This record gives sequence, structure tokens and C-alpha cells, in this order.
Amino acid sequence: MKKVGFLGVGEYLPEKILTNQQLEKMVDTSDEWITTRTGIKERHLAASGEAASDLAFKAAQKALANANFKPADLELIIVATITGDMPTPSTAAILQNMLGAPKAACFDLSAACAGFVYGISVAQQFIASGTYKNALVVGAEVLSSITDWQDRNTCVLFGDGAGAVVLAEVKHGGIISTYLGCDGSKVDILNVPGGGSRNPATHTTVDAHQHFLKMSGNELFKIAVNTMTMAAQTVLKQAGLTFADVDLIIPHQANSRIIMAVAKKLGIPEEKVYLNIERCGNMSSASTVTALVEAVAEGKVKRGDIILLDAFGAGLVWGACIIKW
Ligand code: UT7
Repeated sequence: MKKVGFLGVGEYLPEKILTNQQLEKMVDTSDEWITTRTGIKERHLAASGEAASDLAFKAAQKALANANFKPADLELIIVATITGDMPTPSTAAILQNMLGAPKAACFDLSAACAGFVYGISVAQQFIASGTYKNALVVGAEVLSSITDWQDRNTCVLFGDGAGAVVLAEVKHGGIISTYLGCDGSKVDILNVPGGGSRNPATHTTVDAHQHFLKMSGNELFKIAVNTMTMAAQTVLKQAGLTFADVDLIIPHQANSRIIMAVAKKLGIPEEKVYLNIERCGNMSSASTVTALVEAVAEGKVKRGDIILLDAFGAGLVWGACIIKW
């Protein structure tokens, strides 16, 4: 099998920032509650009319420039998202046209907060098998479009953003191991109940706020900690490595308490954990990839380092990945 690695990375976070202090004026919450329970201080929000493809386009342009790669040469575009521009066509198709990448096969991937890890795993298979020479994988979300701004249980948690990577065959390093999983028996604890074929959009679904994210946060918390711990252990075992080999863990950014509980269970010291949740909140499929992009930009990921990506979200799904940078 061919080795598949990262040629370039890029991110885009919308200009508008919503702080905890501003949220205090919108719902019955406090900066103190949000900070201590989640680690979030502020989040970026897309401007009115700014869609997932707009964020994806800006992140993709940066990743392509970083890789010194022409869009016309792209053979595959995968956009991991739960907030695509429209139900059909795919946001990947819209992005293909924006970028000018007519050769690329395109599809969206729905694996919620594990979407980016699922995306690079799928792209890896296509490249390793020789079907395509390269792929652009994007995690892009406008979660503000499915956030109930009257529900304090959820509206303090989410943000908007996008991250992108260009993947191709590499001689050294690359993706060493991936582990994906799903437990479809717990759909009810995190979902958007309205707008799909089960419950199509009507005046009633709109009035009942059914087009917004619903979450049993407390129930999810323990499952998130246990599942992310298990996924990290499994992918490392598959790779034939131990936690002592890991230079940096880049987890999905749902809650800093979840992340630190996972690190503690794994015996990974805090300084080896990358966080951007304080500035970005939870951006679902955009969280892990933007954290990776920022860690690279800050020099926290160096050539030869072993990186562990570890994500968990609605499905319930999980995905972990070991990368040699
Ligand atoms: O990304 C996909 C995966 N997502 C996750 O894994 C999220 C997992 N869950 C969590 O991160 C946490 O459960 C939350 C941050 C969502 C909630 O934190 P918690 O410590 O589990 O709080 P809780 O839901 O048990 O609520 C504790 C209290 C409740 O009040 P009472 O019933 O004790 O009086 C809530 O009503 O906090 C209240 N509360 C708030 N208070 C102020 C809930 N939201 C807020 C708020 N501000 N925004």
C-alpha cells in the first residue's frame, strides 16, 4: 500500500466573534458557567449569507497554497459537514466549482464531529489503492445555522469554521493507522430531529424548533470520555505504538473537561494536548482539522512527530488516527 500524507493545511475562521459576555445578554448563562463547564470563552460565527462552502473555499485555498498545489490537478474532494449549503447537491460539488477543480470526484461525508477523521481515512483508501493520486479533505461547519439561540444547554457550545488538508502519496511519514466506529443505538441523545425524510420541514417543525441541534449533554459526557479513550487505545495498538510515542494529541474540541479526562485516562500529560476550544468552541467536523492546522502553524507539530487525532460525535461515531508528520 502507498503511504499517504499531508502536503498542505489551511483554515478559515469567520471574522465575527461571539463572546461569553455577549451570550450572557442572550440567554440565562454566565461566563463563569461556560468557562468552568466547557473551557469555551468565545466562538466565531459566519456572517449572514455565509455558507459552509464559503468557509470551505477559504480554508481550501490556504491548504492548496500551503501545498503549492493547483486546484485543476485535484482528483477527489471530500467535504465533511453536517451543515452543507443545501440538502443536495453536495457542498463538495459547490466547492469544486468555486476552486476550479473540474477533474475532481466530489462528495460530502456525514460523520458529525468525527467527520474529518472519517474523511482523511476514506481519502487515504482511494490514494493508497491508486484510484486517485490526491485528495482535498475539508471539515466545514456553519453550526450557528442549526443552533437554537434560545436554548442555553446548547447555544453556548458551538462555533463556525473550516479546515482543509491536501493529501497525496508521500515517501516518509503519513497516516500510519486509522480506527473508525459507530454505535447507532444512541441516535436520540444528539441529533437534529427535523428537516430530513423522517420529519420533513413544516410550519409545525419550525415552530417546535426541530431544525436545531438537540443534545443530552450530561448523558453524552461519560460516553465521550470512555469512547475517545477506547478509540485512542485501539488505534495506537493497531499502529504498534504506545502513548509514550505520541508527541501531540489533537482531539475533537467538545469540552475541555472531556479532553483532559481522556488525557488523564491515557496517561498523556496536559502539555501534549492541543486545545483551540477556548477561542473556537465546538465546530463539529471542523474542530479536529482546525486544531491540527493551528498546531502546525504554531510549530507544535514538527517533521517526524507522532500525532494522535481522536474524535467523537453524533451517531454516535468515533474516529482516531495516528499520523507521522
Ligand atoms: O461534539 C459532540 C459531542 N458532544 C459532547 O460530547 C458534549 C458532552 N457534554 C458536555 O460537554 C456537557 O455535558 C455540557 C457542557 C453540555 C453540560 O455540562 P454539564 O456539567 O454536564 O451540565 P448539566 O447538563 O449536567 O447541567 C448542570 C446544570 C443544570 O442546572 P440544574 O438542573 O443543575 O439546576 C443546567 O440547567 O447547569 C445548567 N445549565 C446551564 N447553566 C448556565 C446548562 N446549560 C447552562 C448554561 N448556563 N449555558
